[in-house]
Amino acid sequence: MLPTLPLLLFLLLLLPVPLSPASPPAVQTCQDFIHCLISGGGGFPSNLIYAPSNPNYSTILESTIRDARFNSTSTPKPSLILTPISTSQIQAAVLCSRRHDFHIRIRSGGHDYEGLSYSYSSQFAVLDLASFRNVTVNRAEKTAWVQSGAVLGELYYRIAKRSPHLAFPAGVTNTVGVGGHFSGGGFGFLVRKFGLAADNVIDCRGRILDRASMGQDFFWAIRGGGGNTFGIAVAWKIRLVTVPSTVTVFSVVRTIEQNGLDIANKWQSVSSKLPKELSLDLLLTTTNRTKNRATIKIAIFSALFLGKTDKLLNLMQSKFPELGLTGEDCKEMTWLESVVFHGGFPSNATVEALLDRSKNSPLVWTLKYKCKSDFVRGDPIPESALLKMWEKLMEIEPEFGGILMFPWGGEMEEISEFRIPFPHRGGNLYMIQHMAYWSDEGERHVGWLRELYDLAGDYVSREPRSAYVNYRDLDIGMNGGEWRRYERARVWGEKYFGKNFERLVRVKTAVDPENLFRNEQSVPPLPRGIRSQRIAAGSQFDRCTL
Ligand code: FDA
Repeated sequence: MLPTLPLLLFLLLLLPVPLSPASPPAVQTCQDFIHCLISGGGGFPSNLIYAPSNPNYSTILESTIRDARFNSTSTPKPSLILTPISTSQIQAAVLCSRRHDFHIRIRSGGHDYEGLSYSYSSQFAVLDLASFRNVTVNRAEKTAWVQSGAVLGELYYRIAKRSPHLAFPAGVTNTVGVGGHFSGGGFGFLVRKFGLAADNVIDCRGRILDRASMGQDFFWAIRGGGGNTFGIAVAWKIRLVTVPSTVTVFSVVRTIEQNGLDIANKWQSVSSKLPKELSLDLLLTTTNRTKNRATIKIAIFSALFLGKTDKLLNLMQSKFPELGLTGEDCKEMTWLESVVFHGGFPSNATVEALLDRSKNSPLVWTLKYKCKSDFVRGDPIPESALLKMWEKLMEIEPEFGGILMFPWGGEMEEISEFRIPFPHRGGNLYMIQHMAYWSDEGERHVGWLRELYDLAGDYVSREPRSAYVNYRDLDIGMNGGEWRRYERARVWGEKYFGKNFERLVRVKTAVDPENLFRNEQSVPPLPRGIRSQRIAAGSQFDRCTL
């Protein structure tokens, strides 16, 4: 399918700018880029541009580096950090980036698992959207506009303060940024009842476009097709969901001696079939660590139930009595308080803690980490294999290692795999996040995590072994230097997007054929030679609209 008129309008604003000469000297390119920003019609205030010589450069760069693995002296740093406060300044940054072939990386909350929003091996600038953090709730319409630089804690807080009955189904951690999170899907404890964050995006404003002007393919792609690929999302209109005034939470621990393995095994087949109102996550981990070994295996079951304790207890008694849940394990609270409960804050934290986007928030940002994802489809992992994976956690060297399992089913079973680019829907029992956190220099911990991942290989989705784009993992493939090598991108692309990869390539080819917005795992445009042929072949996907 050829680009629609709105898409062409988008291109017209990008294409007429003359290309810079091949391989200009880096310093000159940087000066030209700055000149373009400030006086070349860009109108970008110089006090919002930070070079390494600026005393505030490091503070701003590090403000949202959420993985210490990418905050070392060897991490490539940006030549500039741009901190726009208006959309016209974002527009100027894009225009000058195009004009001077100066690479930019977009950063909203900085949680990218591979640090791609603030590191790159060549010269580049970070476009930091931290100032774009407005949240405007329309209570009557049950919608909100939220800007990309807002974090999830702010979003939840603003919504619930307007109405305690309104909520939004997105991630658990308060500091995750809206921009990257919505671009890749986004899920939390409400996923089984209401789907992903991206399922509930109903409009989006980029630099010049909104839903009506961007066309349906483009709007489809930006809700789950991954960040830094199709342009810059400035604000999102979201559909709010209704929650009861009282919800119930619990977090209970079972050791292996308390029958933890049997209970975890049962969890695998039960959790995705529970009523949508209940989301029950499972973390397999260890405790009582000495130097290189832990001695106790623990399973932590954490839940949000959209209802009161008595109903939850009846439900658990009939569907999952093995857990042995009691009334004392349960706490009733508002939905907003439940976000604090699951956010890892101290028990006396108030809901205002959700507004803290600094490094004081509960996660220990001084640690390094690496995560990998999997989807378990059809059959549960055999109990013996589950035990083997759990055993692997005992030989722990990282400060923390775990296998976090999120149940699917519910609404995720009912949404088509083609509705947005996120394809992991019906047939999945649960998603896994394999995790390692450490503080020393050792890259060997990454090797340890890969071994853990290998242990799961025979029991998770295959051909392809699926992965979640928001848990970015460069191990599964990268674009490398040749950005348009479509076949190479297919290797990781089909893991993240399944059959939607082809359509994403077609949209990318239409909206950003020169690949201005790119990173090591952004969907590439087709090479010129095969464009029309592939675009025509891809039109079969046209039926998969909203
Ligand atoms: P960041 O700013 O690093 O952006 C991520 C990617 O999107 C980058 O490629 C970036 O260039 C691009 N991007 C950012 N803003 C953009 C914009 N405005 N327009 C276009 N592209 C943009 N996930 C989940 O589903 N549920 C969860 O509960 C959690 N919890 C969680 C906890 C912690 C501690 C971490 C580190 C991560 C998660 N995640 C998660 C994963 C999270 O959803 C994922 O890392 C998001 O991409 C983070 O978005 P940020 O804006 O914070 O990151």
